[in-house]
Amino acid sequence: MPSKILVTGGLGYIGSHTSVELIQQGFEILIVDDLSNSSIEVLEGIKNITGVSPEFVQLDLRDKKKVNQLFADQPALSGAIHFAAFKAVGESVNKPLDYYENNLGSLIHLLQAIEKKTQTFCFIFSSSCTVYGQSDLLPITEEAPIKKAESPYGNTKQIGEDILYDNSRSNEFLKVMTLRYFNPIGNHSSIEIGELPIGKPQNLVPFITQTAAGIHQKLNVFGNDYPTPDGTCIRDYIHVVDLAKAHVVGLKRMIADEQTDRFEVFNLGTGKGNSVLEVIKTFEKVSGIALNYDIVSRRQGDVVEAYADTTKANQILGWKAINDLETALKSAWDWEKKIRKI
Ligand code: UD1
Repeated sequence: MPSKILVTGGLGYIGSHTSVELIQQGFEILIVDDLSNSSIEVLEGIKNITGVSPEFVQLDLRDKKKVNQLFADQPALSGAIHFAAFKAVGESVNKPLDYYENNLGSLIHLLQAIEKKTQTFCFIFSSSCTVYGQSDLLPITEEAPIKKAESPYGNTKQIGEDILYDNSRSNEFLKVMTLRYFNPIGNHSSIEIGELPIGKPQNLVPFITQTAAGIHQKLNVFGNDYPTPDGTCIRDYIHVVDLAKAHVVGLKRMIADEQTDRFEVFNLGTGKGNSVLEVIKTFEKVSGIALNYDIVSRRQGDVVEAYADTTKANQILGWKAINDLETALKSAWDWEKKIRKI
C-alpha cells in the first residue's frame, strides 16, 4: 500500500509551505484544515506551484469521531505533520481553555487514532522556541532547560511535547520528531502562497509589511532599553521555505529509520540573531520604503534575546537555513504587494 502523509493545518502559513516541499519531494499528502485561520484558495496556490492538486478534507480535529473516521477512511496514512493549532499568544491569555482544548485535544485525538495502527507511524510536531523562555545561554541548544511558559499558547507547546514523549514510550509503533521553530518569516518566492494574518498582526514582519502598505499608520517598536547593542530585542528570523524543507528532511530521516530515539528534538533557526531595528533597516533597504515607526514601551512577556544553536539540525539532519534576512523580507514584501494589489 502506498504511504501518504497527513498535513494538519496544511492550508496555514507554515503548513502550506511544507505541503509544497513535500509534494515537490514526491510525497503524496492529505491536507486537513478547519479553515478557521486559513483560506481554501491556498489549495489553488499549492497547485499552481507544484502542478498537483492535493487531497483535502475540511475537518476540526477537536471532533474525535471524525478524526477516527478519517483514519479509518485513509488506511494508507503512515505519517503526519501536525501544524493545526491556535497560535495567538495574547488571545491565549484571555481564552486559555480554548487553547488547551484545541491544541491539546486535537493532538490527543490524532494520537488515539494513530494508536490503532499496527505499523510504524511518523509524527512531526510543530513546536516553538517559546519553550525555552529567556534562555540563560545563547545560542540556544536543544539541551537548554524548558522554562515555565509565559502564556497558555506556550504551555500547549510544552505539554504537547510531553504528551508526545510519553506516547512515544507507550506506543511502540510511534516515532516522533518535535521541531522547535524560531521566528518564521517570508513567503514562497512564487508569491502563490504566503502569510495571511487575520485581524491586526501581532508578529513583527507582517506588521512591518502592512505598515509599508499603508494599512497601519505606524509600527510600534516595543522597547529600546533592552541590554542589546541597539536596545531592541533580538530574534532568529528564519525563512519559512527553509523551515518547510527541514520538515521533509526530518520525515525522510524517520522513514529511513535513522532516528537514534523514537522521540527527537531539533531547533530550527538560522543561528543568527537580528534586532528589531536591524529588521526595520533591512526591510527599508529591500523595499525602498522609509517605515514610519515609534519606540514605545516594552511588550509584556517578550524575551530579550533568542537565537538558535543549529549544530544538531546541521549535523544530524544535514539541514541548514540558506536564505538570509534580505531575501526573506523581500519575499514578505512581494507577497504583501500582491495581496494588496500595490
Ligand atoms: C511570538 C510569540 C511566540 C510565538 C511566535 C510565533 C510573543 C511574546 N511571543 O514570538 O510565543 O511562538 O511569535 O511566531 O508574542 N515587535 C515590535 N513591534 C510589533 C511586533 C513585534 O517591536 O508590532 C518586536 C517584539 O517585541 C519582538 C520582535 O519584534 O522583540 C519579534 O516579535 P514577534 O514577531 O511577535 O515574535 P516573538 O515575540 O519572538
